Amino acid sequence: MTQTTPDAPARKQRAQVKVRTLRTDRWWLTPLLVFLGLSSFLIYGVWAILDTSNFAEPYIAPFAAPCLTTQEVCDGARLFGWAPVGDWYALPPGLLILGLPGGFRLTCYYYRKSYYRSFWLSPAACAVQEPHGKYTGETRFPLIMQNIHRYFFYFALLIGAILTYDAVLAVVHKPIGLGSWILMLNAVLILGYTLGCHSCRHITAGRLNHFSRHPLRYRAWTFVSKLNAKHQQWAWASMFSVMGADLYVRLVAKGIIAFPFA
Ligand code: FES
Repeated sequence: MTQTTPDAPARKQRAQVKVRTLRTDRWWLTPLLVFLGLSSFLIYGVWAILDTSNFAEPYIAPFAAPCLTTQEVCDGARLFGWAPVGDWYALPPGLLILGLPGGFRLTCYYYRKSYYRSFWLSPAACAVQEPHGKYTGETRFPLIMQNIHRYFFYFALLIGAILTYDAVLAVVHKPIGLGSWILMLNAVLILGYTLGCHSCRHITAGRLNHFSRHPLRYRAWTFVSKLNAKHQQWAWASMFSVMGADLYVRLVAKGIIAFPFA
């Protein structure tokens, strides 16, 4: 039997470490790189949404797809010529769809971990004290809203399908340019990231008790699980590819890059 004395520390009391961390390795490097990577994506995104060089036949900038308005900047970039938003809309067309892929990434399990660590320092790394005195996890508003990630997944799948369609149009176009392959690579990476989502894994086979009774779902789950195991890598690769492909199309549209490199 354990004996306690009046001087013994309470069992639940945390170790009283006076320094922020006892780690001597470069634990700050990963959060710093993540901070720089995500910040560059945010800065580029703001610029791209405000930029109007969306289209250079046959390329459509991914940040503006689908272009849903009747505005001139959407000419040639509309999906099946469709413009469900009326003439009244005067803001950048990219703003209309920004919330769907943006919300999907913002609530992604991997990105949550990365920006909680690199932006909110909660904590910045394992065994490094965080600057916040209170921790409520994702149990309260606003972070409880992260649970809507599963719904964003369906919209992200739709956006992924549209980007793939745009890439196929570019690849079958004659003459074919470098941009066609850039858009196709981007579509593959976007789909790899989207299908590797934890929500997708749950949709394919969550709550199943017997894989043997659902062979198709089992196969889908196996495929999604493989993507899911590298979700972090897909997240970064697709983030840089969508940024690169978008910039490429805009540079072609502005006449800065010309055929055969276009
Ligand atoms: Fe990352 Fe769903 S968990 S996209």
